[in-house]
Amino acid sequence: MDFIFDLIGRFHPLIVHLPIGFLLLGLMMLVFDSKEKKHQKIIRFAFFWGTFSTLGAVITGAVLYIREGYAWEDIQGHLILGVLTFVFAFFLYLKLKGFSQFNKLSQNFLGYGLVLVLIVTGHLGGNLTHGKDHLTEPLPPDLKMALGIEVVSKKLILLPETHQELSLYSGVIQPILDQKCVSCHNPKKIKGGLLMNNYKGIMEGGEEGSIILALNDVESEILRRIHLPREEKKHMPPKAKTQLTKAEIKIIEQWVTLGAPEKKTVSELGLSPQLFTSFFSKDETGIYPDIKLNPLNNSLIDSIKSIGLQVAPLYKTSPLLKISAINVPDFDDQKAELLFKALDHIVDLDLGQTQVTDAVFDLVKEFKHLTVLKLYRTSISGNGINKLRSLEYLKQINLVNSNFEAPYLEDMYLFPALEKVYLFGTPTSFSTTVEIPDQFQTIFQMGNYKLDEEADQTL
Ligand code: HEC
Repeated sequence: MDFIFDLIGRFHPLIVHLPIGFLLLGLMMLVFDSKEKKHQKIIRFAFFWGTFSTLGAVITGAVLYIREGYAWEDIQGHLILGVLTFVFAFFLYLKLKGFSQFNKLSQNFLGYGLVLVLIVTGHLGGNLTHGKDHLTEPLPPDLKMALGIEVVSKKLILLPETHQELSLYSGVIQPILDQKCVSCHNPKKIKGGLLMNNYKGIMEGGEEGSIILALNDVESEILRRIHLPREEKKHMPPKAKTQLTKAEIKIIEQWVTLGAPEKKTVSELGLSPQLFTSFFSKDETGIYPDIKLNPLNNSLIDSIKSIGLQVAPLYKTSPLLKISAINVPDFDDQKAELLFKALDHIVDLDLGQTQVTDAVFDLVKEFKHLTVLKLYRTSISGNGINKLRSLEYLKQINLVNSNFEAPYLEDMYLFPALEKVYLFGTPTSFSTTVEIPDQFQTIFQMGNYKLDEEADQTL
C-alpha cells in the first residue's frame, strides 16, 4: 500500500496551485471590500478554502519530501515558508471570523505577511521543480552580466600536445555542437525535427532534409543557418543564445567541406594548426603573448643549437621559442649575437650562470616578444637595463645572485608589463637604502637570504 503515499506526494505540484488561487482571490477581495465591508462572508469562504488547501499542500509536500529523497538543505526554505503560509492564512481566517484572541494582530500585518510568504514559497518551489535559473536562463547574456548573474562561458578547450590525434568530429565538432546547439536539438526538445546530439542525428537532418550536403556548390543547410545574419529568424543559434565564435564557425566549415567525416583525426585530415590555436587554454600560452608568427626555419634553429644552446618551442605547434644557455658556461656577450637570428621568436631566455655582462641589454632590447628573462648568477649590475623598457611583454626578470645594484632598480618602474623581478642575493637586496614605492612592492622580490644553486634556476 506504500504506493498510496508516493501517489499523495506526487499530487503536491498540482495541489499547491489551489491555495495560491484561493488566497490571492481572498486578498484581492479584502482590498476591494475594505471600505464597505459588504462581502465579508464570501471573503471568509475564500480564506477557509485557502487555509484548508494550504494544509493539503503542506501535507502532500512533506510526504513528497519524505518519499522522494530530496535533500533537506534544498527544500528547507520552501517547507518552512510553506508552513508559515498556512499559519498566516489560518490566523487571517480566524481574525476575519472575529475571534477576540486575534484582536491584537493587525489585519494588515497578516495580509501583507501572507502575500510575502506566499510569493517566496512559490518561488522557492518553482526553483525546486524547474531549476534555480529557470527565470534567468532565457535572459540575453548582456542583461545577465548587468544583473550580476554568472555567465558561464562555454568554450571548447584543446591541448596543444594532443589535439592532432583527436577525431575531428568527436573531439572537436560534437563538443562545440553540445555547447551551442544541443540544448534545442536533442531527443527531448527536437526543434526543426533535427537531432544534433550524435553523428547519426546530424546525418539524418531535420524536417527539411539533410543539413550536410556532399556537393560543395550548394551550401549545406547547417552552414547556411550559421552564416545568416544574426538578426534573421532562421539564423542558428537563435540570436538570443550564445553565438558560435569565429574560430568555431571556421572549424565547422572545414569539417562540412571535408564531407563531415566521423572518424578521421585532425592530423589525418592535415588541417592547419592555425585553426586550433584559439581553442588552446590560455594556460598553454600562459604568461606568454598569444601571437602568430611564421615558425623559424630549421637551419636557423640548428645554427643556434650548434653552440650548445637549448632551443624548444613553447608548446608543440608554437612558433615561439624558449632558449637556454644553461649548458654553455662560456656563453658571453659575443656568443649572444647568435640569438639575433631568433629575434622575434624568443619569449623565454635563460642566460643564467653565463659570462654575459651589462652590454647584453643592447641585444636583448631587440627581442620584442621576450616575456621571461633570466640573468641569475651573472655579473650583471643593471647598468643599461633601462633599455628594456620598450619590451612590451617583458613580465619576469630573474636576477637572483647577480650583481644587480640598487640605483638601477627605478629604471624598471617604467617597464610596461613587469610583474616579478627576483633579486634575492643581490647587492640591492642587502642594501638598506632602497625604498620601493608602494605600487611596486609586490613586483620586486628581495628576500634576505642567499638561495642555493638549484633554487635560483627554477624561479
Ligand atoms: C534556442 C534553441 C535553438 C538553438 C540553441 C539552436 N537551434 Fe537550430 N533550430 C531551432 C528551431 C526552433 C528550429 C526550427 C525553426 C527553424 O527552422 O528556424 C531550428 C532549426 C534548425 C535547422 C533546420 C532544420 C530543418 O531541417 O528544418 C538547422 C540546420 C539548425 N537549427 C541548426 C542549428 C545549429 C547548427 C545550432 C548550433 C550552432 C542550432 N541550430 C542551435 C532552435 C535552436
